[in-house]
Amino acid sequence: MSVTLETGVTPIRMGDTRALAQRFIETLSPDVSRQQAGAALLLAWHHLNTSVVGRHLSIPFLQEASQKLVDVAAEHSKTGTSLLTDFPPHTGDACLDLFSLALRTWQMPIKGRVLEIGCCEADWVACALKADPSLQITGVDWRDRSYDSRWTFVRGDVNQVDFEPESFDWVVSISAIEHVGLGHYEKDPVREDGDSEAIRRAVRWLKPGGSLYFDVPYTPEGFTVDGTKHRTYDAAALRERLFVPGLVCLRQGFVDANDVSRWLLAPSASPDGKRRYHYAANWWMKERE
Ligand SMILES: C[S@@+](CC[C@H](N)C(=O)[O-])C[C@H]1O[C@@H](n2cnc3c(N)ncnc32)[C@H](O)[C@@H]1O
Repeated sequence: MSVTLETGVTPIRMGDTRALAQRFIETLSPDVSRQQAGAALLLAWHHLNTSVVGRHLSIPFLQEASQKLVDVAAEHSKTGTSLLTDFPPHTGDACLDLFSLALRTWQMPIKGRVLEIGCCEADWVACALKADPSLQITGVDWRDRSYDSRWTFVRGDVNQVDFEPESFDWVVSISAIEHVGLGHYEKDPVREDGDSEAIRRAVRWLKPGGSLYFDVPYTPEGFTVDGTKHRTYDAAALRERLFVPGLVCLRQGFVDANDVSRWLLAPSASPDGKRRYHYAANWWMKERE
């Protein structure tokens, strides 16, 4: 690909990045560090590689990119770190990695008071607090777990515990909704509509305009309850069981259960007739009044 960079003075070939960087840095305000300038250049490269062949980059474009980085850095310095930039992309757990993918691609602005439903096992709370210690997290689970003074753990059935209505900015639930009511975990209470009820309660606890993120196993081949293990949803079951009144869908994405690193255009049935598993990630919002 042959690209010319419009520097405002003499065109520079893309190969000559040192000269471009030098000239670019000379034009920057003192607020922009060399690191940010370098990042802006990388952003420019990325932009160039993902956009139309032959697009021109210009010094104003790079200055705008570096200004954006200065703004992000300023926001960052208020808390030291942020969930969006510091939640790990690879955790060793498929559904935490899926959360990370959704966080980044959808730019979910998770802040304030957050409730995690089903907070045992893969430790979303630890990852979240490390990335953004300013989050005020409450976690609820039927089973016991260790916790510390930075957050609140409530042991109990999500369908029996109670929180103040409209008290959370976010509800997050990783690989948990599909289990609620099946009696799999230390005799957790059996309830056929345990999944729907958990979402209904989450909506009650959310502030108007607050958000819900959750993932569930998904297949286009029909809703099933796999013993006491978990439910697997299809589009109709997601809509009828989980998309309860008061919710607006902001984003929905699907991944192959064996590769959560990229979104699928559409989950498809397997040509060999074997049932294929996907996860559906959902970012839904409680309607504002
Ligand atoms: C598969 S684990 C997922 C946990 C964790 N979020 C993860 O990604 O590894 C499902 C969790 O949901 C919890 N759970 C199941 N039914 C529940 C209920 N009725 N109330 C609260 N927690 C429940 C279980 O105890 C279990 O920790």
